[in-house]
Amino acid sequence: MKKLLIFFVLISFCRLSLPAQSSKDGIALIPRPVSLQSKTGFFKLSPAVRIACAGDAAMPVGEMLAMHLNKATGWKIKPQKFSSGNILLQINKNADDKIGKEGYQLKVSSAGIQISANTSAGLFYGMQTLLQLLPEAIESPTATTAKWQIPAVEILDYPRFGWRGIMLDVSRHFFSKEEVKRYIDQMVRLKFNTLHWHLTDDHGWRIEIKSLPKLTEVGAWRVQRYGRFNTRKDPQPDEPATYGGYYTHDDIREIVAYAQTQYVTIIPEIDVPGHSMAAIAAYPELSCTQQKVYVNPGTAFSEWYGNGTFKMLVDNTLNPSDEKVYEFLDKVFTEVAMLFPAPYIHVGGDECYKGYWVNNPDCQALMKQLKIRHVEDLQGYFMSRVEKIIQSKGKKMMCWDEVLEGGVSTDVAIMSWRGMKGGIKAAKEGHQVVMSPTTYAYFDYQQGEASIEPPVYASLRVKKVYSFEPVPEGINPQYILGAQGNIWTEQIPNFRHLEYMSYPRLWALSEVVWSPKEGKNWQDFARRMEHHFLRADVAGINYAKSVYDAIIQTTKKEGKLTIEMATEIPDLQIYYTIDNTMPDNRSPRYEKPFELPEGNITLRVVTYRAGKPIGHLITLPLAQLEKRAGQHEKELFD
Ligand code: ACM
Repeated sequence: MKKLLIFFVLISFCRLSLPAQSSKDGIALIPRPVSLQSKTGFFKLSPAVRIACAGDAAMPVGEMLAMHLNKATGWKIKPQKFSSGNILLQINKNADDKIGKEGYQLKVSSAGIQISANTSAGLFYGMQTLLQLLPEAIESPTATTAKWQIPAVEILDYPRFGWRGIMLDVSRHFFSKEEVKRYIDQMVRLKFNTLHWHLTDDHGWRIEIKSLPKLTEVGAWRVQRYGRFNTRKDPQPDEPATYGGYYTHDDIREIVAYAQTQYVTIIPEIDVPGHSMAAIAAYPELSCTQQKVYVNPGTAFSEWYGNGTFKMLVDNTLNPSDEKVYEFLDKVFTEVAMLFPAPYIHVGGDECYKGYWVNNPDCQALMKQLKIRHVEDLQGYFMSRVEKIIQSKGKKMMCWDEVLEGGVSTDVAIMSWRGMKGGIKAAKEGHQVVMSPTTYAYFDYQQGEASIEPPVYASLRVKKVYSFEPVPEGINPQYILGAQGNIWTEQIPNFRHLEYMSYPRLWALSEVVWSPKEGKNWQDFARRMEHHFLRADVAGINYAKSVYDAIIQTTKKEGKLTIEMATEIPDLQIYYTIDNTMPDNRSPRYEKPFELPEGNITLRVVTYRAGKPIGHLITLPLAQLEKRAGQHEKELFD
């Protein structure tokens, strides 16, 4: 009896200590709402359910809700403009300051559902939460059957940041108009509201500029190559450029209009003065060398020396001393500003190699005239000229953090990617900042065991993404617009792999940018993440299961290798062999770090959960174990 009592005390303690939306009632919302109270009972959906939209502004959300419900159930629910119904969507008559422009209240009882918000965007996010309260069958792209019931809850919710972004690179690989829309559909399910569209780079120019037709006639196409990016063969003489694509003005208007229906702002990026090889392929007179270059298919055209220093073997940089360049940019930004209603235009400014400027007499003459000694300041001059162009189109400029080196006005918003330091410096100087550091937000990086994942030069696990805090200590939060995940696509050739690289890391990031800082709990997130694996399975969305693989690290001391292993998520058991046999759950179980005996040993590792294998077999020969000695992912072992 005493034991039983202790058991119940423990259970109730655990229940209390878990965040509100723990496993009770199967509620597993991502991102975690500000507050959630579970009530008793369910609301049962039926074909007779009535979606009532109180006011015109609620109607588009009512239609989207009906579309989602009908798709999965096969029913034919139609929203009605009405002030009562068993699913009521209403805009608050008196704005509720607490929830702001994007927050909402959602009440579900056995009698009905009510979503209220100050704006239709708030209703839209309330709808996303409601959909996640339904069983995973709601994600089915075709009609199916399920127990269509929603647990009774009261939710009050609003975002932490106004900029909840994802950057999609469509230059390195092209994604069709339909794919971009599909990606928008997915991001809004997680309450992201900003799509930063990286439209130009060395590997393709993807936006039609009617006054500069060669940008897409030439710049949007490259020779087809397979195999790892940055190791590919140069184009051969007369080889046709068949890989690529671009968005016409009509395509862009269509995507922007679609994004607006999903409460997504699209920020276009035209990356200058570096990363401009596709533009230079079209108009060679834009560079200092005026070399004839081609749209790069993924060759090794740069050398990297560590600490971010590098050399471009091919001139991919606009000439800052040439007025023709500014005339060119004026034409480009006239059309970009016309197509995109967003307040910001991103103009890149990153990784600009200045070696060709150093050797160019016109650049040197300009530096003399400007009385500047460093080429960094020449980039400063270039950026200030571009800022004037951007401002003349009624827009604000945003740049990567490198532009701080040449000095830019505090009206320029900074996107911090080389860690957080650029963002910290920028915020201290009074710039608006979006945090998208490689250390927490680069989703082109591998997300698990390096010997299994498709090869990329760096790693970022979902657990680390979840630990991201966009407002550094001592920084006034009013300068931090929000945060963003960047998906560079050198190694992402298709939509399916874009999904794989996005999930589950975007789920973690959605929580970083939406949910309160307080109450973060990795174990609880991990449980909800696994629930979302099921939802993604039903939706047919690809995602990485890397969290089920062991993390294997080695250290070397006095010639001896020590093996240390862990898992990102709880409740997994690790088994291994060092005798060239296949491991299973009767092999040695990993309990603590151990020293590898002498010999030409291969380590084989598997993970199990509840007696069943889960995750991949990892096979690491001695040479690989030696190579990774000391390369720790320390925080994953905490
Ligand atoms: C960047 O990753 N070059 C912004």
